[in-house]
Amino acid sequence: MAKIIVFTDLHILPEEKRIIGLNPSERLAAGIAHATKHHPDADRIVCTGDLTHRGDADSYQRLSAILDKTHIPVSLLIGNHDSRETFIDCFPDAPLDANGYVQSSLDVGGWRLVLLDTLNAPPYEFPETYCGFLCEARLAWLQDELRGAGDRPVLLFLHHPPHDIGFPGMDVIKLKNGPALYDLIGRFDCVKHLVAGHVHRTISGSHRGIPFSIFKSPCHQMPMNMDSLDVSLSVDEPAAYGILLTTPTGVIAHSEDYEIAVADVGTSHEALGVGADVA
Ligand SMILES: [Fe+2]
Repeated sequence: MAKIIVFTDLHILPEEKRIIGLNPSERLAAGIAHATKHHPDADRIVCTGDLTHRGDADSYQRLSAILDKTHIPVSLLIGNHDSRETFIDCFPDAPLDANGYVQSSLDVGGWRLVLLDTLNAPPYEFPETYCGFLCEARLAWLQDELRGAGDRPVLLFLHHPPHDIGFPGMDVIKLKNGPALYDLIGRFDCVKHLVAGHVHRTISGSHRGIPFSIFKSPCHQMPMNMDSLDVSLSVDEPAAYGILLTTPTGVIAHSEDYEIAVADVGTSHEALGVGADVA
């Protein structure tokens, strides 16, 4: 059994810069402190991309300083707001695949975590700039990792959802070759769950028989607007991170709204006189 904390879409900015009035560094730091306090037994923190808002070195260094505050080991993915080159400069120890993509695998609690690089670079015109893409080289690497998983079930992490999620604006900028990804993982039996970011909203479901989870950002969130094509809609809702618990037979996904959570002060039903068997 493993416990994995998921932070996504951190959007760190240089000092004093804000997004819809929110300070991404302060909000991430509060989330990391919360997760470290309440889940010191976590095996790993995985950050599923958009680590920074503009892909600049200053922001990556600010991120590094925030992550240094936790003892929990951290794995980092990149998203469409990141710069692969600047990320690698600022995190020289980050594992890369043989082609220099920010892709890696690690085995935790009997599971294999496979982390993908879906950044579609160099910059193109919108919407290509914001779309995700997995080139042949990255898909070939994934195939090798799935072959090498052996009996281990696989948790697949990537920034861009590889299918529509019901927000028209975000569906325009999803992973643009999602079917190629699903064709590949469909040839294996080992991928049990997929975790993405990009949307800034808590979403779950399944696609082609594989369950997925998407979590909110520690900073700005996607409003519940299923009509707009605007890809930059943002709202100040409580920040969140995900908690994945692997079991011998599957994955449990929780979302912790850490800014409004009151985990230490629950009231029992017995104390209210309504019986302890009421959930
Ligand atoms: Fe984002």
